[in-house]
Amino acid sequence: MPNDIQWFPGHMRKALNDISDKLTYIDVIYETIDARIPFSSRNPELNQVATNKPRIIVMNKSDLADETKTKEWIEYYRSQGIHAVACDATHKKGLDILKKTSYELCKETFERAKAKGRIGRPLRAMVVGIPNSGKSTLINALCNRKIAITGDMPGVTRNFSWAKSDSLLELMDMPGVLWPNLGTKRSQLCLTITGAVKSNVVDVVQVSYDGMKLLEELYPNLLYERYKLAKPNEEGYIEDDYERFLDAARKKGCILSGGRVDEERFGKLFLDDFKAARIGRITLESPSKPESGISEEKE
Ligand code: G4P
Repeated sequence: MPNDIQWFPGHMRKALNDISDKLTYIDVIYETIDARIPFSSRNPELNQVATNKPRIIVMNKSDLADETKTKEWIEYYRSQGIHAVACDATHKKGLDILKKTSYELCKETFERAKAKGRIGRPLRAMVVGIPNSGKSTLINALCNRKIAITGDMPGVTRNFSWAKSDSLLELMDMPGVLWPNLGTKRSQLCLTITGAVKSNVVDVVQVSYDGMKLLEELYPNLLYERYKLAKPNEEGYIEDDYERFLDAARKKGCILSGGRVDEERFGKLFLDDFKAARIGRITLESPSKPESGISEEKE
């Protein structure tokens, strides 16, 4: 997936136009976001074009996210009049609720069509979202088979066709790709450690160091347990952030010949641990304080 491709203003305009042009063919939009970063994985510009169709926020990768926080976000969306559903596309969880919500939202459209004698048409959905949010996995899960999805990159359009989920639901087989919310340094960090921005285009050591600090603020116990670090007020606690980072690396055996710490190896290991939820199920953004975490003075 081309996550490291640059988004230019022309690409962004084209992405919105592509989505806008296709809205006429669909009944409902599935806006796929990463449940671990509901703020940074949403693209606010979608509101500009997706005005006249019902929309459901699909909080995908909920298996990796903090369950309590996912519920808080769903409640928050509900308070804003927005429909949201937690999904785990990989393990096909949450799909029934997603379908049920879709039918409910489109009930009136279908009743109107029925009154005009048009019956039997399946509900049609378009999946949109930033790269790596799980659009393809969701389409495959809903359709119960692997569908070759191409064109999921900035500036590329291709003709679409329909992929059948069941007799009641069809999906546009070309997902609408949106650009991530790279606004703040903190958003960039969140997108990188969750994999929306590829770690091969960033400084792995810097990102893992910043990521560790972010987790220390949000989920300190999970972090200390995973890397066997002494907690504050415990004997052996290391005050200095960088020394604590090196301590974690040493404890994971990331040592070069000569005894120096292999920071790069530990950086990769940390990012892999995070990605696989080995540190724990973690959500980096809160509805009450989406910008919480790393302070903005680091801009
Ligand atoms: P995209 O079309 O929006 O770009 O996303 P895609 O479906 O390709 O999914 C991106 C990565 O996220 C894939 O991992 C996929 O398996 C994983 N993924 C998608 N949905 C879920 C989910 O609900 N839960 C979990 N745990 N993982 C999910 P990958 O092939 O390893 O890619 P990468 O992360 O190494 O880029």
